[in-house]
Amino acid sequence: MTSGGDSPGMNAAIRSVVRACAYYRVSSVGIYRGYEGLIEGDFIELTARSVNNIINKGGTILKSARSAGFRTEEGRAKAYEQLKENEIEAMVVIGGDGSFTGAVIFNEEYDFPVIGIPGTIDNDIFGTSHTLGYDTALNTAVEAIDKIRDTASSHNRLFFVEVMGRDAGFIALNAGVGAGAEEILIPEENLGLDRMLESLKKSRRTGKSSSIVVVAEGDKSGKNVYELAEYVEQNLPEYDVRVSVLGHMQRGGSPSCFDRVLASRLGVKAVELLLDGKTNLMVGLQNNEVISTSIAEAIKGGHSINQELLRVSDIMTT
Ligand code: F6P
Repeated sequence: MTSGGDSPGMNAAIRSVVRACAYYRVSSVGIYRGYEGLIEGDFIELTARSVNNIINKGGTILKSARSAGFRTEEGRAKAYEQLKENEIEAMVVIGGDGSFTGAVIFNEEYDFPVIGIPGTIDNDIFGTSHTLGYDTALNTAVEAIDKIRDTASSHNRLFFVEVMGRDAGFIALNAGVGAGAEEILIPEENLGLDRMLESLKKSRRTGKSSSIVVVAEGDKSGKNVYELAEYVEQNLPEYDVRVSVLGHMQRGGSPSCFDRVLASRLGVKAVELLLDGKTNLMVGLQNNEVISTSIAEAIKGGHSINQELLRVSDIMTT
């Protein structure tokens, strides 16, 4: 199943799981709409041929949902009944930390084998350097910011560009560095609004006529992106300020080659772990090796921003 927010590469992961099952002569069944579909028994038999031509497609052919029903004991009991009735013996959950929390609880209650594949653009999961969709979302954000820069520079404007990431600043920091942003505001490092004003003043003094400030949606400055723009307009009237919120465009589109390859590797590993009798593990990438971490650790572990990249970003915005 795919669960939670969709991300580019989910289809490639479905394809990989199904093809690995076919390779090992195991039947596979797709569960529609995540845990919602599991509770309702909304299943489809999948074969190696059912997943032709989806490696390059964004979104998820199995659809996705955030399920309120599965948070209840009754919901999970119904889900277990559906799995038994359909003779399903193990489950691969492609999703983010919310989906993994559900998987852990379900395993504790019903001892049902489950392996997680991290699929979210936010990259906020411990135990993998990259979640599926993160690389594609970064490239989408950078492409969008490049385009916004054309207008910023033609009109000598300052743009505040909000990117996704929930409570994490990975997309903001990496897309900000990649697109050459003048300032990057992330939740992990709240340097205060005064510093931003100072930095923008300095930009003007040193001859910059336009600027881009990338703001993570989870930024902790205490102001949303529109309030930030207003604050700068009030304090630095010489700036012509605009706001652009990139939003869900960052979740869509054809996955990058990196995400397709990652999905293919993680899907095979997920199936092989289940065939080895393993459960409650999340597959991930560390130092370009496919590894596994306990799902509980992956959820609890938290995520830390790369300090070296933060330092590079500070130097680049000089
Ligand atoms: O987790 C992926 C994500 O796109 C976050 O970056 C964002 O905060 C959230 O999902 C948006 O969720 P929804 O699509 O439910 O509005």
